[in-house]
Amino acid sequence: TWNMADFVESAVERIREQVGEEGHVICGLSGGVDSSVVAALLHRALGERLTCVFVDNGLLRYQERKRVQALFEGHFGIDLRVVDASERFLSALAGVTDPELKRKRIGELFVRVFEAEAATIENARFLAQGTLYPDVIESVSVLGPSATIKSHHNVGGLPEDMGLELIEPLRELFKDEVRVLGRALGLSAELVGRHPFPGPGLAVRVLGEITKDALRKVRQADHIFIESLRAEGLYDQVWQAFAVLLPIKTVGVMGDQRTYDEVIALRAVTSKDGMTADRGHLPMAFLGRVSDRIINQVSGVNRVVYDVTSKPPGTIEWE
Ligand code: XMP
Repeated sequence: TWNMADFVESAVERIREQVGEEGHVICGLSGGVDSSVVAALLHRALGERLTCVFVDNGLLRYQERKRVQALFEGHFGIDLRVVDASERFLSALAGVTDPELKRKRIGELFVRVFEAEAATIENARFLAQGTLYPDVIESVSVLGPSATIKSHHNVGGLPEDMGLELIEPLRELFKDEVRVLGRALGLSAELVGRHPFPGPGLAVRVLGEITKDALRKVRQADHIFIESLRAEGLYDQVWQAFAVLLPIKTVGVMGDQRTYDEVIALRAVTSKDGMTADRGHLPMAFLGRVSDRIINQVSGVNRVVYDVTSKPPGTIEWE
């Protein structure tokens, strides 16, 4: 059986060995559970020889950057840099519709931003990230590239000429184990209990081409869905929940006017580790209230549907 105290001790030991006496580590921080746990482990192992970098890639959820800044500046005593790279990401994604190409562009740009930060710090040769075992399994197939399910941005999406050495202390763990570890390291229940959010962010939840207006729609719809789940005590009953913007228009009627607008799909799943998942059994009346709020508040959306596919055969994300 898995022993947490042993894990922490040996992870700290391995980090110190890899980094040496002088090395400094850049840690890519998203504000989610995995990268926060990595930051806490590195802080234990290296103290001040750690700089966390939060990248605003323009693909974040509603007020996410503010939330992460407040959380880290208030509690961790870790050096945090916030880099606004949103215009770079959005221009690298302009016109891109293929899901794998989106992930590759995003994975590469993240690394370029980390490299640029590392270049300003003495001995910063290392990049730490919160890669989990399932990210590795889905990105790398023994059967070759055609059997890859999706290239997680932090594994298959990394550029080949990366100038930093990776540190991935969670590479053998599943999400539920990372949560246990987070609690043991003293992270707040709210942080540890947060739903997973993919590194490529809202880019893989705008199907097809990514525009600022499409991001606005999916961001507002996601916020309404998540806040409603929290308000009605349903947030912790699902493993992950989110909104997806579909690249199609359908006819509707509001007041006595015809509308011709886009569709939001809501998805909620239950799961243990994200490798398989069941459709979330949310009450229809609740989904109806969320649908009404989205259509009333998000301009350009006139229809909401609920995804009832399990994984397999679906994946959790739509791209
Ligand atoms: P799928 O869609 O593969 O998702 O069933 C399984 C879990 O992984 C998340 N996910 C990602 N996380 N980079 C990440 O950091 C990625 O490229 C990525 N793709 C999917 C997804 O949100 C779910 O929790």
